Amino acid sequence: MLRVAVILGSTRPGRNGEAVAKWVYDVAKKRTDGEFEYVDIKDYNLPLLDEPLPPSLGQYSKEHAKAWAAKINSFDAFVFVTAEYNHGIPGALKNAIDFLYKEWNNKVAGFVSYGGGALGTRAVEHLRLVMAELQVATVRNQVSLSLFTDFENFSIFKPAQVQEKYVNSMLDQVIAWGGALQTLRTRK
Ligand SMILES: Cc1cc2nc3c(=O)[nH]c(=O)nc-3n(C[C@H](O)[C@H](O)[C@H](O)COP(=O)(O)O)c2cc1C
Repeated sequence: MLRVAVILGSTRPGRNGEAVAKWVYDVAKKRTDGEFEYVDIKDYNLPLLDEPLPPSLGQYSKEHAKAWAAKINSFDAFVFVTAEYNHGIPGALKNAIDFLYKEWNNKVAGFVSYGGGALGTRAVEHLRLVMAELQVATVRNQVSLSLFTDFENFSIFKPAQVQEKYVNSMLDQVIAWGGALQTLRTRK
């Protein structure tokens, strides 16, 4: 069974991301083709990257880096739930990604974003570039939520009904590609 992390990428108090990520996780849990886990980067208390050696060497010295590496290593695929901060991903998410290397490699990612006029899609485009460097395959189908129409007063998450269908379309691709890349990792 493929293990898929639903990763919540914003950490600020009162973040909208928490309701979004929990909803994605709830939709995912109804499926029988994967094992899903909710991962909140805030729980890992990662400081700004403080490892002396490049993450690509995999020689982590700090307990928080080791714990984060063990968690990410345990997954075959990822669904990133990301806000858009100044047309990019939140710094906390970039920092959490930068901590590791091999733990991401040859795996798959799908995306759920939320935001104003552009629905967080610029953050996803940013994240796709970051994933490319980490050798993560990114699926086409994505979920783009509007602070105007999928939230009440920009703060109470009430997704349009159709969005659940989009989550499942994205997950269909994540599971399919996740299986293919699992084969590659096993061969290695
Ligand atoms: C630092 C910062 C920068 C932001 N920049 C953008 C932006 O570029 N585009 C956008 O659509 N919304 C932007 N917003 C609004 C966010 O989409 C909105 O606050 C959202 O709820 C943030 O996610 P969070 O609540 O999970 O932190 C920004 C918000 C913050 C805090």
